[in-house]
Amino acid sequence: MKVLGIETSCDETSASVVECQNNDIGILSNVVSSQVKLHAQWGGVVPNLAAREHLKNIIPVLKLALKEANAAPADLDLIAVTNGPGLIPALLIGTSSAKTLSYFWEKPIIGIHHIEGHIYANFIYKISGISQPKAGPPRAEKLKTKISFPVLALVVSGGHTQLIYMKRNMSYKIIGQTLDDAAGEAFDKVARILNIGYPGGPVIAQRAMEFPISNNQFSNKYKIPNIKYQIQLPRPMINSKNFDFSFSGLKTAVLYETKKHTRLLKNKDYIAELCHEFQQAVIDVLISKTIEAAQKYNPKTIMLAGGVAANSELRRQLGKAIKNNLPAVTCILPSIKYTGDNAAMIATAACFRWKKMSVLQKKKALQNWKTLDTDANLKLK
Ligand code: KG4
Ligand code: ZN
Repeated sequence: MKVLGIETSCDETSASVVECQNNDIGILSNVVSSQVKLHAQWGGVVPNLAAREHLKNIIPVLKLALKEANAAPADLDLIAVTNGPGLIPALLIGTSSAKTLSYFWEKPIIGIHHIEGHIYANFIYKISGISQPKAGPPRAEKLKTKISFPVLALVVSGGHTQLIYMKRNMSYKIIGQTLDDAAGEAFDKVARILNIGYPGGPVIAQRAMEFPISNNQFSNKYKIPNIKYQIQLPRPMINSKNFDFSFSGLKTAVLYETKKHTRLLKNKDYIAELCHEFQQAVIDVLISKTIEAAQKYNPKTIMLAGGVAANSELRRQLGKAIKNNLPAVTCILPSIKYTGDNAAMIATAACFRWKKMSVLQKKKALQNWKTLDTDANLKLK
């Protein structure tokens, strides 16, 4: 079957056509139109501006996704749209468009939770040989979807930081989450304090790479004597006896650090050391909690999800920590191109959800355009 996915929960307008066959998923197209440049001048996403951009972009993005997939509306079997959580003005552009298409094209429609989409980006992890056309965009990527359950997912995005236990497909138990800021949000806020650009994650990761010491997981860098500025930030809640997180105090610690050394803010070495120490503090906490959660819940697979999953140090150190501490557990990292917001992950999640639905539920999905809700605080069920 062919699924049209639509994602507009934040600042990317995206549409994708995905083909699901048994356990194989083929990404026929995945068009993402980013608004990052527009929001950069404000240092964060402005919801109403995002909605206007989505409105401008949604039809060209949909047309291109269908064209690249070489698919006509008649070829589609299902429409899947992110219906929360996210910015309500932004979400509404996606859900209204999807519902209208469902009505006119007489196709079933289902809502997908944004975080469910991020998790299922991990099910798009092996690209192999579907025959490619001589010209034009690639036909499809053949993707391996055999994943051993139970799964422990570490979700790290701009809006969420959660440890989620999945006994089977589409089953979620949140075993820990942030009590305040999300990890990506902390990256964005720290970049703002340092005035080094937006979004914060990629720029901090870049600046951190300029710091000359490459750390190992659970760094002992305090013991290395030749660090120029000796910046030490806290690892919040690293010793708490639960799997919750807190990153707001870490951001404040960065603020205090910069207030002590305002004249160093133009100093490249200082910024590099501060970015490195901040990034390492986030990574230390994320990895330590993930390993402890895995020791308690015994998953067969650990996966990383969300925009922060693009962070190369987090990917490297998580992989290493799992190998060293949990050799029987498989670590799956999403392909970088599916870590940020995109519609392929939404359509992929929809393939799995559709498979779990009864005949009656599938029939009812033809009428879902009447009732499908859009919820800024949608809960993962
Ligand atoms: O999942 P996502 O695209 O949007 C939300 O659902 O929130 O995540 C965006 C977040 C932003 O906070 C961004 O700074 C962060 O992901 N991010 C990164 C990196 N790339 C993006 N954080 C750390 N390192 C990166 N390389
Ligand atoms: Zn996201």
